[in-house]
Amino acid sequence: MTNHLRPNHLRLGVNIDHVATIRNARGGLHPDPLRAAEMAAAAGADGITVHLREDRRHITDADLDRLSIGVALPINLEMAATDEMLGIALRHRPHAACIVPERRAERTTEGGLDAAGQHNVLAPIISRLRDAGMRVSLFIAPEERQLEAAARLGAPVVELHTGPYAHAEGEAVAAELARLERAVAIGTAMGLELHAGHGLTYDNVTPVAALPQLAELNIGHFLIGEAVFVGLSSAIGRMRGLMDAARASA
Ligand code: PXP
Repeated sequence: MTNHLRPNHLRLGVNIDHVATIRNARGGLHPDPLRAAEMAAAAGADGITVHLREDRRHITDADLDRLSIGVALPINLEMAATDEMLGIALRHRPHAACIVPERRAERTTEGGLDAAGQHNVLAPIISRLRDAGMRVSLFIAPEERQLEAAARLGAPVVELHTGPYAHAEGEAVAAELARLERAVAIGTAMGLELHAGHGLTYDNVTPVAALPQLAELNIGHFLIGEAVFVGLSSAIGRMRGLMDAARASA
């Protein structure tokens, strides 16, 4: 049975940004993100996620062109809420657009989007993306006021930032997981589709994947790092197996 027909299936979006990070270290063509996307599809990914950053530090415009043509899986474009990125999204019309906050000096997306504080910036961008047929999501902290703001903005999907959970230690792990659980319950009651991602690994994915209302996880850095040791197919296959096992026992 194909993944999307399985009951209670938790989709896995594989973020291939860091294949491009390695490629860019030498400025050539290898390793090729398109090849990684094809392998991810064969290994059980449900979607390919890429973040075209303002500084193009990993995925480039040319990558997005090639991926849009060459990848059979749905593409989820992570993008800052800027006119430039809106124009690119409207030209490529990926299956999904996930609006993320972006700060130039950050190493990765550090915090969630301030959906509550940026209503006037986000509202026109969300409606243009939606009108063009994209499934729009907002990457937010698992907080009630951000969920309420996302719903007010008409975003059908939110991706909950799992970074604080992933980086928590000791008793804080349970507290961060409880925040995620609560956000999932609130978001579900609001009729939002719920995704989660950031910092997920073999060691921390199970309790998140077990939250039955989550529809999708987006995972990147750990999978690409693990691929150095075991290969991309094995890394994705093992993550897929952990997610499926978490769902089966939920
Ligand atoms: N989801 C969003 C919105 C992100 O910005 C990122 C990082 O680009 C991820 C998921 C994946 O995070 P990680 O690379 O830590 O798995």
